[in-house]
Amino acid sequence: MHDIIQQLEEKRGQARLGGGTKRIGAQHAKGKLTARERIELLLDPGSFEEWDMFVEHRCTDFGMADNKTPGDGVVTGYGTINGRMVFIFSQDFTVFGGALSEAHAEKICKVMDHAMKVGAPVIGLNDSGGARIQEGVASLGGYADVFQRNVMASGVVPQISMIMGPCAGGAVYSPAMTDFIFMVKDTSYMFVTGPEVVKTVTHEEITAEELGGAVTHNTKSGVADLAFENDVEALLMLRRFFNYLPLNNREKPPLRHTEDPAERLDLSLDTLVPNNPNKPYDMKELIVKIADDGDFFELQPDYAKNILIGFVRMEGQTVGIVANQPLVLAGCLDIKSSSKAARFVRFCDAFNIPIITLVDVPGFMPGTAQEYGGIIKHGAKLLYAFAECTVPKVTLITRKAYGGAYDVMSSKHLRGDVNFAWPSAEIAVMGPKGAVEIIFREEKNDPAKLAGREAEYKAKFANPFVAGSRGFIDDVIQPHETRKRICRSLAMLKRKKLENPWRKHGNIPL
Ligand code: HXC
Repeated sequence: MHDIIQQLEEKRGQARLGGGTKRIGAQHAKGKLTARERIELLLDPGSFEEWDMFVEHRCTDFGMADNKTPGDGVVTGYGTINGRMVFIFSQDFTVFGGALSEAHAEKICKVMDHAMKVGAPVIGLNDSGGARIQEGVASLGGYADVFQRNVMASGVVPQISMIMGPCAGGAVYSPAMTDFIFMVKDTSYMFVTGPEVVKTVTHEEITAEELGGAVTHNTKSGVADLAFENDVEALLMLRRFFNYLPLNNREKPPLRHTEDPAERLDLSLDTLVPNNPNKPYDMKELIVKIADDGDFFELQPDYAKNILIGFVRMEGQTVGIVANQPLVLAGCLDIKSSSKAARFVRFCDAFNIPIITLVDVPGFMPGTAQEYGGIIKHGAKLLYAFAECTVPKVTLITRKAYGGAYDVMSSKHLRGDVNFAWPSAEIAVMGPKGAVEIIFREEKNDPAKLAGREAEYKAKFANPFVAGSRGFIDDVIQPHETRKRICRSLAMLKRKKLENPWRKHGNIPL
């Protein structure tokens, strides 16, 4: 018996070493932690239950029969984050560069299947050279088995990908189907084809960092949701982020105790909107001032900055924020901002997270770049997402709500539950200047007359009362009371029940 126990410990020791001390040293030299060190940082101390430590690959080609490492390049199992269950896989770059074999894929599939059975999120820590080249199609099959599970789990349990090393080829498509992608600066990258292939096919010379680094995907492509400085910061922030989420689509997110009173007033909000309607202001200031303890977990802060998305808590309850940002492109809706917000709205809706929409939008962005790029289709994504969404929806118009963008931004007509406006709100088909230039075109050579028309239009429409008279706005509120009024609305909506008609699935404009 003693021998067997010793054998077990030896085997475990061998598995824990992964690709060996030299490769672990190389991993550390790059500023990266190992697969196991990452799990230790992410999960509550001592909570990790590891599975499949003794799994080995079954490949015999290219001398692989004698080249086996127990665990086969991925550490899998479950544990807790702040006491809440999570399933995890962490790819081990020290074993064949974390490349995915058939057995490696089976380990990932096993934790995903269990996560679905018990209703717990899945976190993937990705650090992999892609398909295990020696295995060929067996590896490709393994990827597809993971992809299929990503899709089945979508909207059932939250899925989060942390990219902590290379993520090349097909390997990017599993993260792409998860709810959130976070990256680590300077050490992680994602691309479908690497710099060498790019050079051959398009003759572009580009580094891996420029092609698919954290900065690229957080500013240019919008593929990633956040970038962190290093592994430690990334994993600690992931713990924080996890606290906002429910475990699955049948549960609510956890409540977090707060001392911040729901009735708290903020007089500075009365002067947030400048008198001049063409002057910008920072919508983030409003978010921070109404949120519990001023805490806003922003996502995609450096991509499509004309819209803000992220999580806050109101009276301890997780709430999603979608807000136009007048500081950037006057807060207009364009292709990128519409897609960014639409995906976020759908996440909140799938996981029972109420949504606060803060509106100051002059309309959709005009121009050929937008029209040729398909703003019609992409703008419709946001419209579709808000319209199908059944979680509690509270909307506040702070200033402009013009044209189609008024309709889109969680208006009453798209089943907004409580729609507020500040006294500074201007709800109209378009801005006064543009409007009179069209309807009084024949007076265009008479600036005095046109100015009079503009003033008339402004007095009539540049306010919240016309919409209020129709019941499209439930109340015009004092800015300093915003937190109190929104908290009350959300409390009233706590037991909201709304179901869409049965269908196999809708057909969102993709
Ligand atoms: C097997 C691999 C591997 C792979 C790396 N290794 N990638 N082994 N299959 N895909 C091994 C290396 O041989 C090396 O082994 C060790 O991992 C570390 O790799 P290095 O190259 O020394 O590391 P580094 O310089 O940091 O470069 C990392 C890398 C590079 C950028 C990931 O290794 C690379 O480009 N790999 C190939 C990437 C790729 O083309 N993958 C296939 C994509 S196609 P030793 O023993 O020397 O330590 C794909 C299709 C999937 O994924 C489709 C699904 C739909």
